[in-house]
Amino acid sequence: MPKKYALALLVASILALPATMGQDSKEIRLDPATGMKMTGDWELTKAHCIACHSPQTFLRQRGTLNNWKSIIAWMEEKGGLPKLGEEIKNRILAYLSQNYAPGEEYRRAPIPATLMPENPYISETRKQFEANRR
Ligand code: HEC
Repeated sequence: MPKKYALALLVASILALPATMGQDSKEIRLDPATGMKMTGDWELTKAHCIACHSPQTFLRQRGTLNNWKSIIAWMEEKGGLPKLGEEIKNRILAYLSQNYAPGEEYRRAPIPATLMPENPYISETRKQFEANRR
């Protein structure tokens, strides 16, 4: 190969490098069936969290570890979710809080329920739960 071409090839591959690196390291693929990010304990989470409602119920949520803890506690108490073992619960919490944390897409943390206007569509169960928590 003439030197000129070899050099052009080298320059081209160096220029292309950042693009390919970005793809490999950052992009987490989504499960085509559920839309869940396929990383960490996603399969464990899927196994425990899509029996009663669509995965969208939690995929559209963003929360800190504590937000997710309280969601799962509420579900155990009121949603009929059988108590999860500590280890499984912690792994699911880690998956949710690492992959569905408040971040770029949703810049602020969720507003505490006590500061929100009354929700006209709230269920009776939820209403009682909120009332007991105050
Ligand atoms: C046994 C059934 C059941 C299972 C299993 C279950 N949920 Fe739920 N979940 C519910 C019910 C019932 C609701 C309330 C639906 C409503 O308010 O319309 C709910 C609501 C939710 C909500 C919305 C809460 C809100 O503030 O509106 C989230 C988020 C959620 N579930 C996440 C999860 C996650 C994460 C898991 C796995 C750990 C899970 N669910 C497993 C029954 C379940």
